[in-house]
Amino acid sequence: MVLSLSSNGMVLMDSMSSEVQGKSAGSVKPAFTIVPTGRALGAEIRGADLRGLGPEEFDAVRAAWNEHQVLLFREQSLTLEELLAFSRHFGDLDFAPIQENGRRFVDGHPEIYVVSNVVENGVAIGSLGSGEAVWHSDMTYVDNPPIASALYAVEIPPAGGDTSFCSMYGAWDRLSSDVRRRLDGLRLKHDATYNSGGYVRQGVVETDDPRTAPGVWHPLVRVHPETGRSALFLGRRRNAYIDGFTPHESDALLDMLWEVATDPAHVWQHRWNEGDLVLWDNRCTMHRRDSFEASSRRVMYRTQIKGEVARTR
Ligand code: OGA
Ligand code: MN
Repeated sequence: MVLSLSSNGMVLMDSMSSEVQGKSAGSVKPAFTIVPTGRALGAEIRGADLRGLGPEEFDAVRAAWNEHQVLLFREQSLTLEELLAFSRHFGDLDFAPIQENGRRFVDGHPEIYVVSNVVENGVAIGSLGSGEAVWHSDMTYVDNPPIASALYAVEIPPAGGDTSFCSMYGAWDRLSSDVRRRLDGLRLKHDATYNSGGYVRQGVVETDDPRTAPGVWHPLVRVHPETGRSALFLGRRRNAYIDGFTPHESDALLDMLWEVATDPAHVWQHRWNEGDLVLWDNRCTMHRRDSFEASSRRVMYRTQIKGEVARTR
């Protein structure tokens, strides 16, 4: 339980929160506090400086992450090197995908993916523009998609550009046992044509036939290696295709699964502030981003933690 003072001096009790103690024995000062969002997933880690976490604190962060699937750290002040160092605690990093402008952006840091609508000298400095980014997990068009992404906000527009998250454990848990039985053993093709902003990926011919679209196959249900929980793994809706189904059967089943997975009642929406870092588990969550005013600036840096071979049930 956490006791804290509200602005009018009242003592607030938050029975959902929990404190993680610092290293020094007998210390009463918590290293940080874990405050769940109150939604189906997500928690804020309050009071942690990501430049200075010790090994025990990292263990606690990892445990909180496994429990809540998405973690928010506010008021961080990180150089790119510090963002990379924090991210590496969760595993080796993947290179960023080639950006829409055909480049890997940050000189000397191929692991940094820039999400931005800012245009400098006629060239976008990052990907995804200012439009909506539809629901997805990251980079599922590769054989072993990243297990996690960390997204760090540097410039945020005055309105719009919120990012929402949904739990793919929750999606699985809400399916009837009949549907679950039907899904076991099925494979889904994850499209490699379009990114979540609707842009065609580098070197790919545009198509909307899910049977022939380029992509990779993943099990429709995967088991998280750390929590042992089952999660639907849907990737992106566009050009998705279930192996062995007719296009009509595939679309019908996928539409139903997507409706369950993205049910607004089970979504957590994050309104960004500069200095926020959000770490999500790419194996058991999806995310989407609202559009924002094209004339305002939004600059984010992302790292992605290398993937593993998916475990199935
Ligand atoms: C991403 C992503 C959404 C956003 O970085 O993978 O989907 O809010 N970003 O910028
Ligand atoms: Mn993404």
